[in-house]
Amino acid sequence: MKITVVGAGNVGATCADVLAHKDAAHEVILLDIKDGLAEGKALDIWQSAPIDRFNTKTYGVTNDYSQTANSNVVIITSGLPRKPGMSRDDLIEINAKIVKSVTDNIIQYSPCTIIIVVSNPLDVMTYQAYLASKFARTRVMGMAGILDTGRYRAFIADELNVSPKDVQALLLGGHGDTMVPLPRYTTVSGIPVLELITKERIDSIIERTKFGGGELVKLMGTSAWYAPGSAAARMAEAITRNQKRVLPCCVKLEGEYGLENIFVGVPVVLGKNGVERIIELKLTDSEKDQLHNSAVSVKEMMEVLDRMHS
Ligand SMILES: NC(=O)c1ccc[n+]([C@@H]2O[C@H](COP(=O)([O-])OP(=O)(O)OC[C@H]3O[C@@H](n4cnc5c(N)ncnc54)[C@H](O)[C@@H]3O)[C@@H](O)[C@H]2O)c1
Repeated sequence: MKITVVGAGNVGATCADVLAHKDAAHEVILLDIKDGLAEGKALDIWQSAPIDRFNTKTYGVTNDYSQTANSNVVIITSGLPRKPGMSRDDLIEINAKIVKSVTDNIIQYSPCTIIIVVSNPLDVMTYQAYLASKFARTRVMGMAGILDTGRYRAFIADELNVSPKDVQALLLGGHGDTMVPLPRYTTVSGIPVLELITKERIDSIIERTKFGGGELVKLMGTSAWYAPGSAAARMAEAITRNQKRVLPCCVKLEGEYGLENIFVGVPVVLGKNGVERIIELKLTDSEKDQLHNSAVSVKEMMEVLDRMHS
């Protein structure tokens, strides 16, 4: 198994490091356009192999896609991160060009690969990779839901002073302020969360989750990388190990949830073929409304991209 991570910045390098520590592939190729950056970070990760006892070989390359040939999975993290005051929408134009050129290069050497997009604005960049690759929808997906549920679960664990391992949750919709966390599907070791936390507290945790990315941008002056890198690695590992994990991922809907031709987050089964199944939940009217509102805002951003291409 071979995984390529494009972009050796904060998220890409963290993702490569997590993949190596998980021994999720035989080799991980890290690629960046900055001379020596990917080589240096890949070498640094490899030097932790004897200490942390993993076998995954990490290689770094500067813009040489021939070295990525026959990758089973490619994770695209190249692009600008959000700066304070910058919305995800502001990033569309710059990052779409980067994601398009990266996808064109990747598919030339790995025509059978599975693509995981991380670059923001996430739902639209996943659409961009889908358009450029012309792959089936099962082979192009975006990472957002695992990160967003990670934040939501961490806040619930703090609130209840319990292990984050025991908090299970689901979340739907676009990656942004319109995401739809589902308290009805949130449990602590099987106990419905609403039996443990008041509705008011859950609502304030949901609000904090919706703006969880912005909270970190404000603190650090750039967007997060540890949890995003781990979340993307989790998806790649589910594919390389054919784990059939049920994870919230950004995928193209073709009628599911009453939505057509749109990339939004829903629970899917991830295995060796990529998105092997989309799980359709029975939503309440209010949940349906929230999902459809989220879809409207994603659709508006997808139309920005369509106009750029027309
Ligand atoms: N989906 C999510 O939930 C999520 C979470 C965090 C960050 N992000 C996004 O991920 C992206 C990366 O964030 P980061 O913090 O790692 O940024 P970063 O600036 O640290 O790294 C980006 C890297 O991409 C490289 N790059 C730029 N153009 C390239 C190209 N054409 N080919 C190869 N490499 C190229 C840059 O040289 C840089 O090293 C941003 O768009 C950010 O908004 C998404």
